[in-house]
Amino acid sequence: MAYSNFHFEVTDGVAVVLMDRHDEAMNTLGEEFVVELDQVVARLEEPDVKAVVIGSAKKDFLAGADVRMFDRFDSIEDAADALKAIHLIYDRIEALHATAGKPVVAAINGACLGGGNELALTASIRLCTDTSQLGQPEVQLGVIPGAGGTQRLPALVGVQHALEMIVTGRAVRPHKAKQIGLIDEIVPNEMLLEVATRRAADAIDAADAASSKKRSGSRPRLGDLTRFALEGNPAGRKVLFKKATEMMLSETGGNYPAPKRAIEAIRIGIEEGRAAGVAAEIRFFAELVATPESEALRSIFFAQNELKRDTGVDSDATPLAVDDVAVIGGGLMGGGIAAVSAINAGARVRIKEVDDDGVGRGLAYVDRVVAKRAKRRRLSDFEVDRIMNRVTGTKSWQGFGRTDLVIEAVFEDLELKRSVVREVESVVGVDTIFASNTSTLPIVEIARASQHPDNIVGMHYFSPVEKMPLLEVVTTEATSDQTVATAVAFGKRQGKTVIVVNDGTGFYTSRVLGPYTNEAGHLLSEGATVEDIDGAMKAWGFPVGPLLLADEVGLDVGAHIAEIFTDAFGDRMKGPDLLSALVADGRRGRKNEKGFYRYEKGKRKGVDDSVYGVLGLGPRRETDRSSIQERLSLAFLNEAVRCLEEGILRSARDGDIGAVFGLGYPPFRGGPFWTIDRMGAAPVVDALDRLADTHGERFAAAEMLRGHAADGTRFRQR
Ligand code: NAI
Repeated sequence: MAYSNFHFEVTDGVAVVLMDRHDEAMNTLGEEFVVELDQVVARLEEPDVKAVVIGSAKKDFLAGADVRMFDRFDSIEDAADALKAIHLIYDRIEALHATAGKPVVAAINGACLGGGNELALTASIRLCTDTSQLGQPEVQLGVIPGAGGTQRLPALVGVQHALEMIVTGRAVRPHKAKQIGLIDEIVPNEMLLEVATRRAADAIDAADAASSKKRSGSRPRLGDLTRFALEGNPAGRKVLFKKATEMMLSETGGNYPAPKRAIEAIRIGIEEGRAAGVAAEIRFFAELVATPESEALRSIFFAQNELKRDTGVDSDATPLAVDDVAVIGGGLMGGGIAAVSAINAGARVRIKEVDDDGVGRGLAYVDRVVAKRAKRRRLSDFEVDRIMNRVTGTKSWQGFGRTDLVIEAVFEDLELKRSVVREVESVVGVDTIFASNTSTLPIVEIARASQHPDNIVGMHYFSPVEKMPLLEVVTTEATSDQTVATAVAFGKRQGKTVIVVNDGTGFYTSRVLGPYTNEAGHLLSEGATVEDIDGAMKAWGFPVGPLLLADEVGLDVGAHIAEIFTDAFGDRMKGPDLLSALVADGRRGRKNEKGFYRYEKGKRKGVDDSVYGVLGLGPRRETDRSSIQERLSLAFLNEAVRCLEEGILRSARDGDIGAVFGLGYPPFRGGPFWTIDRMGAAPVVDALDRLADTHGERFAAAEMLRGHAADGTRFRQR
């Protein structure tokens, strides 16, 4: 029988099944795929099949569920039924070896995630390649593994490792997978199927596949002793679950229901047996799919996928090839930009600095990032050498003629940046693109120094560059589509999620923080404590509160930005100007260990209560958490809508992604526009009107928001 999503062949009793979804670039568990998998398994149950290899004809094994399916479930029962069907199929694959004595080898290449990893868990032998990634990322979509993962994974690798993988959602790399017993053997990609087929054939000859599995399962492994000490008895297990719960709560602030349910499903399986565990897993998954948290997280997932395909321009302009990059200024940002350009994008990078110290700092930054990745085995020695050979440093302008893209990250000073533009243009070709990493200066102002303003664009990165996922590409009216498309394409090569915004003070990401930070200042002036303000916004879901963020960014930088914003937007953006008073007191935040918080040897201690005196503020009083959250969040949401209204943002989708990936906006709220859609624009406008009555015009609702409130339209489509 011919299948449309599988290649199938039986040779000498070994059936080789290769997954190959005909309608998608990636294998996922779509409806049609699952129906056919059921037929494939029926074929494997026939007596001529003595052993099985399950692999993939694509570059990835199986990436998990087809997430679009989640939106099509009509009810919790409907979702549960879909899961039960997959469980039945997976149980039958497991029974091939556990009951019928036919060894099943999973030949894993590339991504093996979610339902893919759960499929691999049903096999008796698992091989992967040195580039495979194995994981259960379901919590990132607000659900839990739903095809047996909460039961089979702890049975294979132990409770501790299973908890870590399932609760964090982080994938493990081959070496770690082998160490914890998730993988039996790592094989070079070109030999994967050949070795897998050999292992399957060899296993037929073994007296009994089921008992051979037991033998291999009891091989002593690193850490087995601690594992048994902790997991082998009820008291030890209790400690494990308690620790996992504490860790999860401190990471999620209790805002995410899925990790909690995952821990619960694993515990039920361990304490009450697999049948009870499976029933809990299915029920929890089905309930979680319908939660607003999961819906919001899925919206981010889809938006991110859409952005991967978005060229950043509406025309069909194509990006120029970028092989040679120059980074001007090798400080904190330049060092990071050079690192991701060389490591992720594979470009040749030349760091231009003013003196030997600067050159040394820039190169050392790249070196540190590379060394860290090598230590985590994400780069081989060979790759390390190749990357470092691609990066050079210089004080002179010689040899810049071949540069495709220049990214400047010199000090935040308009005249300096203009002089850099002029110098660069005197040594590069007419097609070379010039990008500025400025965080506040309008790109159009920098472009005034240019002979080719169509080549000038903003590439606004976030610190630390090698970790923060967002890149905000900023365009002026003069920037050509080809320039934008090139910046976007190169940003993606650097591993970034890229949004394109129009030029304007603060672009999008810095600007939405303006009213939000100002509101924190107003609250302080009214008597709120630093603890209450930061605590409220952390509880709302931000990774840090606004005042700690100000310390991190630098109070001097913040004060400077506040000035620029007041000039550009007038009274609406005028805060109580507390930052400049703090700067006058010698407080620049974390970098000089003096700010809203106290620091000692790089470590943050508690709030520095002397700030109130420095600011001339009276005694503190307790402030209601929900009123802090309402004022700060609405200030943020309203400004986001203004950015869309004024065309700074191309779409609400970009606004959501920019806030989540650039500013740590709570992912379970889906971004500011998703939050408004969920609350309803009308209640948001009502709340803003009420706040405007009490606190003044700074809360005046954006016109576009009123429009949505009046006609009930959403900003984002589901
Ligand atoms: P930094 O002070 O760490 O680095 C600036 C570097 O530029 C220094 O190493 C300096 O020697 C070098 N430099 C100065 N003039 C130069 C010239 N004419 N030619 C070559 N090199 C020169 O500053 P940082 O934090 O890296 O910021 C750089 C730019 O990135 C600024 O425009 C800043 O606004 C922007 N930015 C900063 C962020 C941050 O979190 N620090 C975030 C996003 C953007």
